Amino acid sequence: MTTTRCIKRLAVTGGAGFIGSALIRKLVTQTDIQVLNIDALTYAGDLSTLEGVIDHPNHTFSKNNICDRAAVSVVLDQFQPDALIHLAAESHVDRSIESADAFIQTNVIGTHNLLAWARGYYEQLPADRKSNFVFHHVSTDEVFGSLALEDKNSKFTETTSYQPNSPYSASKAASDHLVRVWYKTHGLPTVLTNCSNNYGPFHFPEKLIPLMISKCLTGEKLPVYGTGENVRDWLYVDDHVEALLLVLNKGKVGESYNIGGDNELTNLTVVSQICNILDAVEPVKKLKRTDLITFVKDRPGHDERYAMDISKIKSELGWTPKYSFDVGLKQTINWYLEHRDWLKHIAESKNYSGQRLGVK
Ligand code: NAD
Ligand code: TYD
Repeated sequence: MTTTRCIKRLAVTGGAGFIGSALIRKLVTQTDIQVLNIDALTYAGDLSTLEGVIDHPNHTFSKNNICDRAAVSVVLDQFQPDALIHLAAESHVDRSIESADAFIQTNVIGTHNLLAWARGYYEQLPADRKSNFVFHHVSTDEVFGSLALEDKNSKFTETTSYQPNSPYSASKAASDHLVRVWYKTHGLPTVLTNCSNNYGPFHFPEKLIPLMISKCLTGEKLPVYGTGENVRDWLYVDDHVEALLLVLNKGKVGESYNIGGDNELTNLTVVSQICNILDAVEPVKKLKRTDLITFVKDRPGHDERYAMDISKIKSELGWTPKYSFDVGLKQTINWYLEHRDWLKHIAESKNYSGQRLGVK
């Protein structure tokens, strides 16, 4: 039997990023929960993702770095949350290959800072608030390493051993281990989710789907790493947010839950599909966008395939992804078509124009 937590005040880290902002937009527009949004506004965070909700009375934005334990502790102590959901992270594999420093700082040290604060905070809570509190850590399927392409039926389960292959996934694996330890050793009530590749609006255009959409719109070449046969399991961001809210409210303390889209596709299929949709909705004379596809040098340590077994969250919490990839991708492409100014704003303000990162 699952019990439901009573969360009236929720602290969110990383709420100006891609997934965190989708969560906050939903919380603020569809619930009465008071939200504290802690975000350092790195290159990946932008207040434009919170347009329409930033000044809402249920939303407080706090520009703070989770690596600064003292500053973040003050803000959290003042807010007195019923729960915390931790999404702040350095999240791009290619950047982690370029340099791992920020990944170790934010993903490992930053997570440790939040756990250290949460432990002290939890211990002094009165009994009724103690039994309700939870620290929800958001992680990735990439901690499990890589499945083999030829082994088409294997999937990651919650008990698959950790075998990270990139500096990013190693730093997330380290943070997952810390969360486990704070539960096992210190008795902090934690839940952990590992999700597959998300896509949707406000996705920073360094990741495959928004990068390809952006390059299609400017008629640039579409760089596909290696053979393009690598497989990812695509999850629409709103489906992910639904799953996060279920785990936050009903997840069993000490447990982890896999979240995936049941949408395994090769990178080449994804890129071709983007090209075909854009050719249909915004044709360019004498151009078939698939002709822009260019195979480039592979990513070092490139994981072949990710696939998530999501039977646990389905059976225990009743979650299932609603978006087919077809519907989610068309919706995403439409969003980018209607928000070209956002792509321009990001390119100008974040000093990133689609250049390749992380090649040795
Ligand atoms: P993102 O890169 O879009 O956003 C990260 C946010 O965290 C940004 O707003 C950034 O400003 C903030 N941040 C970074 N460092 C910080 C620091 N030191 N202090 C405070 N704020 C900081 O990431 P995302 O795609 O929204 O991912 C959110 C979480 O989900 C991450 O933990 C990521 O590892 C995990 N995840 C993402 C995906 C995906 O496909 N996007 C898949 C699996 C897991
Ligand atoms: P990415 O969006 O970086 O997510 P992750 O590495 O976390 O899965 O990449 C998704 C897949 O797309 C991955 O197999 C690498 C590949 N890829 C390309 O082929 N070209 C690109 O320009 C990028 C950014 C990624």
